[in-house]
Amino acid sequence: MSQDQLKIAAAQTALSHVENGMKLGIGTGSTAEAFVHLLAEKVGDGFKVTGVPTSERTARLCLELGVPLTTLDDTPRLDLCIDGADEIDPGLNLTKGGGGALLREKIVAHASAKFIVIADESKLVPALGAFPLPIEINPFGLEATRQDIAEAYAGLGYSGQLRLRVRDGQPYETDGGHFILDASFGHISDPKALSDALFAIPGVVEHGMFIGMTSLAVVAGKDSVRTLEAPAD
Ligand code: A5P
Repeated sequence: MSQDQLKIAAAQTALSHVENGMKLGIGTGSTAEAFVHLLAEKVGDGFKVTGVPTSERTARLCLELGVPLTTLDDTPRLDLCIDGADEIDPGLNLTKGGGGALLREKIVAHASAKFIVIADESKLVPALGAFPLPIEINPFGLEATRQDIAEAYAGLGYSGQLRLRVRDGQPYETDGGHFILDASFGHISDPKALSDALFAIPGVVEHGMFIGMTSLAVVAGKDSVRTLEAPAD
């Protein structure tokens, strides 16, 4: 099975958690897009759902494929959010934001009663941090915020690098008009402590660690699709 087929297999299994009439959060990235394609087929067969997309990119795909959309302003509480991830640790904590949609993804997941992450098994890691952590920042005071973040990491004993995400020679801009610093500091020993340190910096809008938010992970491997439950606290 190719990686694309594994993504489709995970998306297919997650689809079985979607019930008629549900209000859905709809993720961003290639795995989430596989889910949108499958969902659109069901909608074409008469299945009723309403979705809140986590990015403009996902919104465009949903509109193109005929998946009905709403907003969190009209529908502030959702039944279920389904999204991909860049890393999944054994506690089902995630790194997200490789596609730049972390802020909307976290807002939508938080507004959802249940959050299912879908992935191929390459995303399973023993600890977060091999994938650079996306940190969404306000463009105002970029250099000051960059220095604050570097100092926060150093204060927690990490060493590594912060890189401003760039696209076409310009700082990459999120759907919310923010910039992203990708933080490569290796394995994150205490995600909560790092999260607290980052949120203490005024220029930090959001970071890509999703801690304790995942209800289930649907992970496709070559032999089977496994559904992993979040460990009890
Ligand atoms: C988007 O900002 C990300 O959080 C994606 O969910 C993540 O990068 C996974 O993307 P793929 O499914 O394309 O690997």
